Amino acid sequence: SEAVHIEKQEWSFNGAFGTFDRASLQRGYQVYKEVCASCHSMKYLSFRNLADLGFSEAEVKALAAQYEYPALDESGEATTRKGLPADRFHSPFANELAARASNGGALPPDLSLIAKARVGGPDYLYALLTGYHETPAGFTLNAGMNYNAAFPGHQIAMAKPLNDDQVTYADGTKATVAQMAHDVSTFLMWTAEPKLEERKRAGVKVMGFLAILTVFSFLTYLRVRKKVQ
Ligand code: HEM
Repeated sequence: SEAVHIEKQEWSFNGAFGTFDRASLQRGYQVYKEVCASCHSMKYLSFRNLADLGFSEAEVKALAAQYEYPALDESGEATTRKGLPADRFHSPFANELAARASNGGALPPDLSLIAKARVGGPDYLYALLTGYHETPAGFTLNAGMNYNAAFPGHQIAMAKPLNDDQVTYADGTKATVAQMAHDVSTFLMWTAEPKLEERKRAGVKVMGFLAILTVFSFLTYLRVRKKVQ
């Protein structure tokens, strides 16, 4: 199929000094939780990881406790318990078969690492979520599929997940499609690369160390050259 042009976005985490915008991360988590989580799992994430987004220990506990997990009671009978900070995110479906049965045969992929698994990363995710346009004349859409400008082949089983005011942001930010797409893509970049900030800080330190080392090596070279002349 033809190549799709993915437009580059401004991300706070771009560049050598990039960092994650904590407010955007928290809004992005809200979008995932209230919209995407009804179809997409994030099995590599634990509630306690949300502390990195700026949530307090009490807030993390409360977020985990909103979900029920299977457990056994004292007599060995199956029961449920409330989620704990150490639990992985709750999956929407029991298994792949159940996931496909609910999605017309298509499988909503786990989103934990999706920002790293797709060419274009967060720019692609943003383009995908904002790419639901009217089907162009002459384009044949298969039954149950949706036109998307960014998706390879332009036919995707996922219906447009975001519409204006789909969520009511806790911090009062206006929830346009573009804003929600930006925030959830930021969140998905963090879940795929939670150590991005440390990696960049280490890179800057290494460059500084190498610059200083270069200066001292050169000064040593000058001294040695003077002695041998
Ligand atoms: C596929 C993200 C909401 C069902 C995908 C893909 C991404 C994604 C990145 C993979 C596209 C690719 O393969 O390149 C999101 C986000 C959501 C969201 C960020 C929330 C804002 C939903 C919802 C549903 C859903 C609510 C179900 C009602 C699917 C399905 C696929 C898919 C069935 C597979 C599509 C195909 O292979 O044709 N989604 N999704 N998604 N999603 Fe979502």
